[in-house]
Amino acid sequence: MLDGKRILLIISGGIAAYKALDLIRRLKERGATVRVLLTKGGAQFVTPLSAAALSGEKVYQDLFSLTDESEMGHIRLSREADLVVVAPASADLMARMAGGIADDLAATALLATDKPILLAPAMNVEMWAHPATRANVALLEARGARRVGPGTGDLACGETGPGRMAEPDEILQAIADFFARPTPLRGRRALVTSGPTREAIDPVRYLTNTSSGKQGYAIARALAYLGAETVLVSGPTRCTPPPNVTVQNVTTAEEMLAACEAALPVEVAVCAAAVADWRPTTKPNQKLKKEGAAPVLELQENPDILARLSAAGPKRPPLVIGFAAETENLVENAKAKRTRKGCDWLLANDVSPESGVLGGDCNQIHFLTPQGVEDWPSQSKDAVARTLADRIAAHFEGGA
Ligand code: C5P
Repeated sequence: MLDGKRILLIISGGIAAYKALDLIRRLKERGATVRVLLTKGGAQFVTPLSAAALSGEKVYQDLFSLTDESEMGHIRLSREADLVVVAPASADLMARMAGGIADDLAATALLATDKPILLAPAMNVEMWAHPATRANVALLEARGARRVGPGTGDLACGETGPGRMAEPDEILQAIADFFARPTPLRGRRALVTSGPTREAIDPVRYLTNTSSGKQGYAIARALAYLGAETVLVSGPTRCTPPPNVTVQNVTTAEEMLAACEAALPVEVAVCAAAVADWRPTTKPNQKLKKEGAAPVLELQENPDILARLSAAGPKRPPLVIGFAAETENLVENAKAKRTRKGCDWLLANDVSPESGVLGGDCNQIHFLTPQGVEDWPSQSKDAVARTLADRIAAHFEGGA
């Protein structure tokens, strides 16, 4: 079931390292090729000889080994795999990954790889519960790392609780699930806009809004996960770029429009950005001085990116999806907006301050299509993104 799949298995320090030897055997039995990279700590628990004997391949250990580097540079090592598995993943190695530190071969390969990563953490219960580890794991997952375990039980240190590395069978299952996951949007191109735009008043001041970009980033991530070749055109946000997504950073609405037009043709465009509706008409080269009367800002309308993408023409994406952020008469206003903008689907959400949607993690959507309105339950922005991506995939599978 893993025929021809190439696994780079990184074994870091921890008593659970002995289970990694069993994992190598099972992966090989299922047809995978396994290349092992052993950290200094890992080599305290399993020998390079056992790993080499089981994998049938040379074992890599040293960043500065002349022979290793001339045979297989660390960059190639990090790229010539379909999946990088870290088992056991120690608290220390995950902290170095989170911090972007490259102080040994394992950390360097993990920083240099462009391949998906599966972590099988193993450590003492308090180390697992420590806020530093929690934050590091959350960050690695936000960057796209997958995780299996840890399980709960008796730990080698004599304590009990979560921290046990997942059993080789579970890790094997997680690896199989990764390779078996459906990618119904493979071969399709998607464009997503996200975040606010910033419109300069002078060189140091600007108009913007409170959009965090979270919903658009989640949508880009969900589309890429289903296999779509995804371009995310993002205004200024603090969001982490999703894995396997091409991010085009822009500042103004006009730049966003240009980046979107450059990304065409696409099969689906999702406009989740909170584009500033107006921009100052003039953009002085110097900072406005606080002298005399307060300045009066003259504004002009920005291009409506959703409406432009929805307009008929040879490059119109077959499926254009917009958002409607409303504070009153949500569904009525959204219906009118869908018609006015000319998009196919529209996700309407209540952004009144008491809803907590803007900048928050949850969203309640009314989903408008030509067929009618569906009320989705209140759910996380990630869940909204996955639901939408599934609907997009179903739409195309339906022969569109
Ligand atoms: O008109 P309103 O801003 O409420 O419309 C919201 C929808 O239109 C969102 O999908 C947003 O991304 C899109 N939009 C746009 N360009 C604008 C204004 C809004 O793409 N200038």
